[in-house]
Amino acid sequence: MTVLAKDFQENDFKVMQRSSGVSESVKAYLDQKVEEILAHRSVNHPFLAWYGENALSKEQEKQLYLETNAYFKYLPFYVANISTITRDEAVLREVLHNSTDELGTQKSHSDMFAQFLDMLDITSEDIEAYEPLESSVALNEGIKEIYNSLPLERALGALFADETQSAAMCSRYNEGLKNQGYDARTRHFWELHIEAEIGHSNAIYNILGPYVTDDEGKERFESGIAHYLQLMEKFWDNVELRVQETAAACA
Ligand SMILES: [Fe+2]
Ligand SMILES: [Fe+2]
Repeated sequence: MTVLAKDFQENDFKVMQRSSGVSESVKAYLDQKVEEILAHRSVNHPFLAWYGENALSKEQEKQLYLETNAYFKYLPFYVANISTITRDEAVLREVLHNSTDELGTQKSHSDMFAQFLDMLDITSEDIEAYEPLESSVALNEGIKEIYNSLPLERALGALFADETQSAAMCSRYNEGLKNQGYDARTRHFWELHIEAEIGHSNAIYNILGPYVTDDEGKERFESGIAHYLQLMEKFWDNVELRVQETAAACA
């Protein structure tokens, strides 16, 4: 499925839905931000579109998913950092909701991703030996910094961009894997995340009202969105280069 702005407004998924308590003006503002996030180049990166229609070699596939692992392995820990820069219980509740959702009750999303890597014949030795790209390290450091420092509106902007873009990004990964011929069992992690990330985006949407009412709050919120998407865009630019280099080396 292609993730559209309307999927955040209404869906049949068993995930967090948008609250009706958000004012009309905040709703209109945030709907516009969702449209902008989904239209950003990092979300519609040429590499992701290309992956949906072109098969990767085994080595290229390994590069892509080891880099992906380096990108999001520790995200739940970073998200929880936001709880240390607020005294707003509503923010604390939803930030922790998103973070603990990643941990599940018995099996974490990280465990599920490890199983997915295993199904692609990517071993724990591969993971251990892998040196992530500078841009992936910068993405991690950037996320850590922004979720750990004031102003809160900037951290919330980055988190809203993070969760919203993630739903669309997971659907792109899923399309690539489908095109590669992988069955639903192998793609389960990604299919689950299209829905889960819509729920995470909605959880944050529901607590943004007080933070995006004046120009100063909006400006800080938007700087967080822009910063996150810019880090993601650089991540994809360099993943694309690394995957191309792998193709050249194998030719
Ligand atoms: Fe997850
Ligand atoms: Fe998420």
